[in-house]
Amino acid sequence: MKQHFNIRIPVTLLVVTFMVFSSGCKIFQKKPSTDTTTPQTQVEKNGELRDEIKDEKGYRNGMVVSAHPVASEVGVAILKKGGNAVDAAVAVQFALAVVYPNAGNLGGGGFLVYRSARGEVASLDFREKAPGEAFRDMYLDMHGEPIVDLSLRSQLASGVPGSVDGMVKAHQKYGKLSWKELLQPSVDLARKGFALTAMQAREINSRRESFLKYNPEGTVFTSKQNWSEGDNFLQPELAHTLELIRDQGRKGFYEGETADKIVAEMKSGNGIISLQDLKDYEAQWRKPVIGSYRGYKVISMPPPSSGGIALLQMLHSVEAFPLGRWGFQSDSTVQVMIEAERRVYADRAEHLGDPDFYQVPQNQLINLKYNAIRMSDMNFDQATPSAAIHAGSVGAVAESEETTHFSIVDKEGNAVSLTTTLNGSYGSQVVVKGAGFLLNNEMDDFSVKPGAPNMFGLIGGKANSIEPGKRMLSSMTPTILEKDGKLFMVVGTPGGSTIMTSVFQTILNVIDWNMGMQQAVDAPRFHHQWLPDHVDAEAASFTPELRSRLSQKGYNIKERGAIGRVDAILVSESGVLTGGADQRGDDKAVGY
Ligand code: GLY
Repeated sequence: MKQHFNIRIPVTLLVVTFMVFSSGCKIFQKKPSTDTTTPQTQVEKNGELRDEIKDEKGYRNGMVVSAHPVASEVGVAILKKGGNAVDAAVAVQFALAVVYPNAGNLGGGGFLVYRSARGEVASLDFREKAPGEAFRDMYLDMHGEPIVDLSLRSQLASGVPGSVDGMVKAHQKYGKLSWKELLQPSVDLARKGFALTAMQAREINSRRESFLKYNPEGTVFTSKQNWSEGDNFLQPELAHTLELIRDQGRKGFYEGETADKIVAEMKSGNGIISLQDLKDYEAQWRKPVIGSYRGYKVISMPPPSSGGIALLQMLHSVEAFPLGRWGFQSDSTVQVMIEAERRVYADRAEHLGDPDFYQVPQNQLINLKYNAIRMSDMNFDQATPSAAIHAGSVGAVAESEETTHFSIVDKEGNAVSLTTTLNGSYGSQVVVKGAGFLLNNEMDDFSVKPGAPNMFGLIGGKANSIEPGKRMLSSMTPTILEKDGKLFMVVGTPGGSTIMTSVFQTILNVIDWNMGMQQAVDAPRFHHQWLPDHVDAEAASFTPELRSRLSQKGYNIKERGAIGRVDAILVSESGVLTGGADQRGDDKAVGY
């Protein structure tokens, strides 16, 4: 099929760049890195050596890494019962809806990337959809300006949830254990309760006012004034909804009692999700986006997530550079990564949207040469201003960072990488009355006003404008890597627009700097997304000296809190699994 590839590059630049690349990439060698910050400590890598060097605990039979220790335990219990990675993923998804309600969900959506032990790959899109009554300007006032918070809070902020149908479809295709067995642990957790972590208690307490604003009659979250670590958190209404799903499958959510409750909730506010929208929702199997990086095969999520394409673009943008030799956090490494990220996010804004509604030039965007050309005007002496990067008349989309990811490998070597979200922390803050689960505020991932600044001061493109039944663009990047035909890594993270850069950096940490999985996850992160033109950086990202040199070159660095929560699994050549559970949260790797 002919694709609209409207990325304009002067022919002379194409020719010159091709000559440059084919002659040994001299343009990149002209100005070597100062490389004063990072010693080269790594030796030739291979899986076994990595395990030994980093002294990370390995397991042979299976592993689950998720945002909550209880959910990881649920997943491993399913594996031990004889379930496969998809069975465990279904059980973990529902368990997270109970024990990690800020992002785990029934009322949201997500993406799953699968690789079987034999190398078969698949990806499942259970992203929310705009309701049938949605329209392009639904969040604009009479002057055509975005109404603050309308796409973020209240019933109108929600897309039609996809998680339950996604799990049904995943189980139908790959599941081994019975559906009921996979649902029962989450029913029990909701009915009998689980112990809140300190972080969770703090978060729920801090949102009390907001919960009461959008649920004036109260919810489980507001049933106690001050939650503390260790409090048993009971969710009887959610338990009942999970029982309906356990007993009736997708009908237990998209029809009957639960669907009626969702629509009643919509009608009690300004929401527009109808019974028909719910009945019509279907998760979609899609062809994963596949590319390579330094000989590793990268399998990731295609549109409507921008994640896989953006990840491959960033990897292809840096592949010509000797990052391994330059070293982690060296001047040149950091510059090349930032400049790659800047260019890729400019492309994202122009070219990415729901492929059922917009023709995404996927093959062109992930083309190695195309990305090399995009990098050919970078200058090691000076940052490229984002204003100078080709972006047409479009921009980036603001996204919340509250999402959650889990990675699973089973005994046979089947792997699941799954990222799921309500969008904002606790989504729209609206709990469906009588059903006990939160609704997403995913509609804010659309460009609420194409071609003009949105409520965050950013601009969005036509590719991601609101249309009935369309899926909003995502950044979620569940990813699986293989090496020489064998499973190598399962990786992903929450983090809104920082998702792709966090996955990108984690992969470089392992492949280019030979870090173990936990070390790669622990390593400090930074992020550039083209607009606004600054580098978000965790405190330890740059030494004061490196930071000062980068600033002198025009990089505007803004220190911020944690970026992402990567949960990943690395597989050695002999099949030993090591986990990386992000210490930025309560995340836990459980293996056996
Ligand atoms: N809601 C965040 C994302 O989908 O990227």
